[in-house]
Amino acid sequence: MSDTFYITTPIYYVNDMPHIGHIYTTVMADAFARYQRLKGKKVHFLTGTDEHGQKIEKAAAAQGIQPIELADRVVARYHDLWKLLDISNDDFIRTSEDRHKKGVAEIIARITRAGDIYKGEYEGWYDARDEAFVPDSQVKDGVDVESGNKVERLSEESYFFRLSAFQDRLLEWYRSNPECIQPKSRHNEVMRFVEGGLNDLSISRTSLKWGVAYPGDEDHVVYVWLDALTNYISALGFGNDDDASYNEFWPASLHLVGKDILRFHCVYWPAFLMSAGLPLPKQVFGHGWWLQDDAKMSKSIGNEVRPDHLIHRFGADALRYFVSREMSFGQDANFSDEAFLERFNADLANSLGNTASRTTAMTTRYLDATVPTPTSDGPVPDAASTAVEKYIRHMDALEPNRALEAAWRLLSTINVFLQDKQPWNLAKNGEEGRKELESVLYSALEGLRITSILTEPFMPGIAAALRKQLGADELPLDLGRATEWGGLPAGTKLGDAKPLLPRVDIKAYLKEIEVENEKRAAAAAMAEENLITIDDFAKVKLKVGLIKEAERVPKSKKLMKIMVDVGEGEPRQLVAGIAERYAPEELVGRRIVVVANLQPAKLMGVESRGMLLAASIDGAPYLLSADDEVPPGTGVR
Ligand code: MSP
Repeated sequence: MSDTFYITTPIYYVNDMPHIGHIYTTVMADAFARYQRLKGKKVHFLTGTDEHGQKIEKAAAAQGIQPIELADRVVARYHDLWKLLDISNDDFIRTSEDRHKKGVAEIIARITRAGDIYKGEYEGWYDARDEAFVPDSQVKDGVDVESGNKVERLSEESYFFRLSAFQDRLLEWYRSNPECIQPKSRHNEVMRFVEGGLNDLSISRTSLKWGVAYPGDEDHVVYVWLDALTNYISALGFGNDDDASYNEFWPASLHLVGKDILRFHCVYWPAFLMSAGLPLPKQVFGHGWWLQDDAKMSKSIGNEVRPDHLIHRFGADALRYFVSREMSFGQDANFSDEAFLERFNADLANSLGNTASRTTAMTTRYLDATVPTPTSDGPVPDAASTAVEKYIRHMDALEPNRALEAAWRLLSTINVFLQDKQPWNLAKNGEEGRKELESVLYSALEGLRITSILTEPFMPGIAAALRKQLGADELPLDLGRATEWGGLPAGTKLGDAKPLLPRVDIKAYLKEIEVENEKRAAAAAMAEENLITIDDFAKVKLKVGLIKEAERVPKSKKLMKIMVDVGEGEPRQLVAGIAERYAPEELVGRRIVVVANLQPAKLMGVESRGMLLAASIDGAPYLLSADDEVPPGTGVR
């Protein structure tokens, strides 16, 4: 069995700040990475960002910045968040990096050499939100009926990948590797999709600039999914001078992805690799979605839960625990504050926190904070070995929520045992009672030490704090010898007892959230008032106009009637409040800027079909003008 374990998350789009859905994939990948390290594997854990494509180009334009500036901002946020969440990734790849571009160039070179690329014309639909080509049969009224996303029509020259030629090879891979796509239901889903036939895939775009330059053809950039998927090998040095990590870690042991992007990972990616003559990943796991009120949490719906408040208030580990335990891996789950708080109180504050604080407090009080002689009496030793065995079985089967359940059954056994034995009464029972007291407390302390190992992949901070309290922080941390009963030596001094996880007053917290949400809604409303999108701005049609005639509106001090050529043949009549600063003869022949699509209005009974633009100093207008060589009717943007 290989002693390396290479695990990846998808690389995140940089058009949006991370929400719980994004965090989930990375937290789960981190749990598996830490678990494999506990098993003694040499782990390589990769995450990163997907920075190219139409979606990012658009998002940057809407903010009036360059795509790379947007990427830098969001990447900084991801770095902070992963640090806060104690994510133990070994590398972070950005697709804007040189090492990545070299990897993309190399895979395209290999696919080209294999004869699987040809030049053609793409005529069809494109879904910019998912960066996906959508077949005609799936589009109704400009919407992809499968995803519900708007699509746009493309017609452009493109390089194509002969995906259709890989149908049999892909099916053969799925059939002879029943484990390669998990859960099983997704394996079937992908197989059915491929059995339905595959179209060749457009792998380059000309109507887009923000991407990896297509090797040898400057007019094209590489299709963002071919670009993005290659991160899994470019980050290891594939296509670069130093490819030692590639040789050591590829193929990946596990690509962890959300179910929405399974097809890209289980159809396109293996086909690219097959064509390039490279080994295929061992397993792709498609997890479910975090929902809010039964709808997928996403930016487009605006129902995403941001992690900041929860982390700030309850700590990173509480959030890590909640997402790991609440969702049956592979299925969807609803996120709610109530569910979070209930689990926090029941599982963390009560089962874990209370058991730990009672045990350490009693050991301090009755045994001078010193671990007594090891014993294996009572139900806890058996419960511990069952927990370890089940935990390993479930983690290996990618059932992390069930692995946690196994660990919590051990906690429950410790709790019930303490309740039964009532150490506080044993302490009053002379020599006989003292012997039993020592045995009971040893069981509890040792059970907790083993729990601290099982919880480490999910809650590294709390697990470390628990080990410190037990005086076990210097003891080995692995899933072999370290989980055998009796590892905590007699005479060990306990560390300082601090409450690990104080209970939360649910009602007070829900009130706190309500206030927080109101504040957030008010801030969002303000932002909405002050900021417009590029699409909003594009609604205003501005044109250069040449003033042909001007005369004051009778009986008005301010209004001037002007006839303006805006390139429509007939001049337009506009009425503007500029008569106090400009004389009619000063105006004729000037080139100004006109809002050409304003609803007509009457000013002092005179119709105005548009508006001119002027700067205003203390209410006095100063006309905006255009250079003489700009013809009337020219658009302004
Ligand atoms: N950039 C692509 C992935 C390229 S990998 C070569 C992408 N990025 S993403 O930012 O949109 O999504 C990243 C991950 O977050 C995906 O695994 C996706 O499934 C996950 N989630 C985003 N919203 C989610 C939920 N509401 N729930 C759970 N995970 C979801 O796709």
